Order: sequence, then C-alpha cells, then structure tokens
Amino acid sequence: MRVLVVGSGGREHALAWSLSRSDSLDELHAAPGNPGIAALAHCHPVRADDQAALVSLARELRVDLVVVGPEAPLVAGLADELRHRGVAVFGPSAAAAGIEGSKSFAKEVMEAAGVATAATLPVARPPCVVKVDGLAAGKGVWVCHTQAELDAGLRAAQALGPFHVEELLEGPELSLFAVAAGETAVGFPPARDYKRIGDGDTGPNTGGIGSFSPLPDVADDEAPEILEAVHLPVLRELAHRGTPFQGLLYAGLMRTEDGLRVIEFNCRFGDPETQSLLPRLESDLLPLLAGDLSRPPEIADRAAVTVVLTAPDYPARSDYSGTPIEGVADAEAAGALVFHAGTALHDGRLVTNGGRILNVVGLGATVDEARSAAYDAAGRIDFAGMHLRTDIAANA
Ligand code: AMP
Ligand code: GLY
Repeated sequence: MRVLVVGSGGREHALAWSLSRSDSLDELHAAPGNPGIAALAHCHPVRADDQAALVSLARELRVDLVVVGPEAPLVAGLADELRHRGVAVFGPSAAAAGIEGSKSFAKEVMEAAGVATAATLPVARPPCVVKVDGLAAGKGVWVCHTQAELDAGLRAAQALGPFHVEELLEGPELSLFAVAAGETAVGFPPARDYKRIGDGDTGPNTGGIGSFSPLPDVADDEAPEILEAVHLPVLRELAHRGTPFQGLLYAGLMRTEDGLRVIEFNCRFGDPETQSLLPRLESDLLPLLAGDLSRPPEIADRAAVTVVLTAPDYPARSDYSGTPIEGVADAEAAGALVFHAGTALHDGRLVTNGGRILNVVGLGATVDEARSAAYDAAGRIDFAGMHLRTDIAANA
C-alpha cells in the first residue's frame, strides 16, 4: 500500500515509524513531515491545514490511505473532502470529529449514550473547571480550587469564546485509544500522559510532556471492559445520528471514587501517548488503520516511557527556532527511540523548531527499566535552554 501521513509532530513520527515496519507498506509519504520522518518517508512541503493541496497531493501520489495525525484538519473536514474525492482515509468526518471540536456536542452525545462524565454546573463556584467549547490545543481548561483561580479562568475563557463550567473530578487519569469503524472498535492498552509543565504536576498545562504504558493501576487487559462502557456507547450514538466515527477515538478518563468518568474525547491519536504505545505494538498497524478490525492489536509485555524535551519558554511560546541540537545519534545508539516533534534542518544541521522539540522513548521489561533508559538517552541530548520533567513515570 501507498500511505500518506499528515502532520509534523512526534505523534506523526511515531505513526510513520510503526507504519514503516508494516509488511503491507510499499511507499510512505508525509505532509509536511519533519527531519525525523524524512528518514522513513518522502516528505512533501504541504501544510496539514491546506486542505485543497493535501487532496491534490493524495490523488497525485495515488495513495491507498491517508492517515491524519492532528485534530484541526479533521474538525475542518479534511477526511470528508478526501472521501468525497475517492481517497481512503483514517480519520473521522467533521461531524464525528465534533466529539473533540465541541465540548458541548461531546457532553450532549455522552448524555444520550449514558456515559459518565463531569456534570455541567449552572453556577460558577470553586472548586470547578472552566472549559472553552472549541479546539484550544490543550490550553482551554482551567482547574479552579479557589475564587482567585476561578476569576482568572473565567476572564481567560471569556476572551477565547463560548465556555462552560463543570464539576471538578479527582483521581488518576488515563488515556484509552480505540481504532473505530462505525459501531465496532478495538482498543490499545491504557497509557498515561503528563500535562503540566513542571515536576509534581505544577505550572501551566501543555499539549503533553511525557507518557508511559503499561500503567500500574489499570492493567492492559482492562481495556476491553472500558471500551464496552465508554467508547462503544458513544460510537453507537454517533452512528445512530447518521455521523458514524471512523478513525481513532481517544477517551481521556479519570478514575474517581465513583468509578471511571470521561474528561474528554479526542478524535485522533494522543500526543505523546502514541509514542509510548506504538513501540509496544507487536502486530501490524497498517491493516488496523486501513479498517481491518478482525484482530485486536497484539501488545508486547515490555514497557515504554516517553520524555518530551521542550523549548525553554514552552508552553507560553512554541516558536523556539534555530538552536542547534546535539546527541540524537548518541541517544539512539543507547537503544532509545527518538521521535522528532519540533525540529528542522539548517544547512544540514539539526536545529530546534517549535515548543515540544524531541520525544525520547525508553523501552524495558518494566516501567522502571524503560524510565531509566529514557532518562539515560535524554541525558545524551542537548540544546541551549532544553527543558524536561524529571518525574515522568516515577513511582510507577
Ligand atoms: P482536557 O483538555 O479536557 O483534557 O483537560 C486538560 C486537563 O485538565 C485534563 O487532563 C485534566 O487534568 C484537567 N481536567 C479537565 N477536566 C477536568 C475535570 N472535570 N476535573 C478535574 N480535572 C479536569
Ligand atoms: N496527550 C494529550 C492529547 O493528545 O491531547
């Protein structure tokens, strides 16, 4: 098969890496890709938000499948446009992507499907959570314990558009990904990501700054039961509304004292959980993405820990460009996978180009071993101002 991956981050590098190992892959393309992806695929200088150019590229290359990484093009209707032009695509229609694109739509679908989530509050009073309705790249949520935090959250949310206030839930979080085709789905094992920039979950939320799998508190083999309670009712509800979901349905969950509750749904692979999950996948990713759900993913017992190396001023800014990066080959030689997230080549030299710069994935028989491998490899990489959390998968 000829496959085109859309996107340019660490998630897309991990997808390209996994696809490049497929027996059924003939040619791999990426748009726009990044220097890491370029080692595995032909990269084309077409942006993920240039719908018309992507459709032309997919047709010109006569690809058998387009795999869309990020949410924004899906919410904007890229999958609809590709399907309309006869190109197969892994990714939901704009209508089904509303499960991520509109928090109020997601709440309405969950209510109709009988899936437990945080209750919407009629009055804003701490403790509570303020959330903007539309896409906000992980920056549209304020968890408010005090009146001062609530005042700040309401002010910030108002500036971004429609928002709602919901119940503040407590408990460990997990991400559960399901590959879905209408009313059927198969699940990946649970993973955990780290959203706050600082050690000990301090500081502002980011797009995701570390991840690991398997989890100590939710076993891999609990995934089918969660799928049954969370993903399948939502998939049936979307199908019932005439907007079946094809692609990756990502549930962000919290294990509260009253059981599992949905924090959010996303309509695509999570970043950086994908970087920890795909290295655990033993079976071929491509048939799954091409719609063959007859066999669930085969998952190795080994553990994976992903540490994200970021720019010094991330998440306030995501435009740290031109700073030379050293040591990637050294980290790979130590046995780690290094996925590029925000890099570029300048005169043949690898430099920073973004906020999240590199993802270093350590593998091992246990989470502890994988964690040591990830931090050992991360320690071999250096660029001016490099930041990382030191507690990813600690105490796991
Ligand atoms: P979201 O963008 O909806 O995933 O929210 C980002 C992060 O905010 C989540 O990963 C949680 O840590 C936190 N969060 C969101 N909603 C709630 C909630 N209702 N209660 C507690 N924390 C929440
Ligand atoms: N890991 C969080 C996200 O992908 O939204």
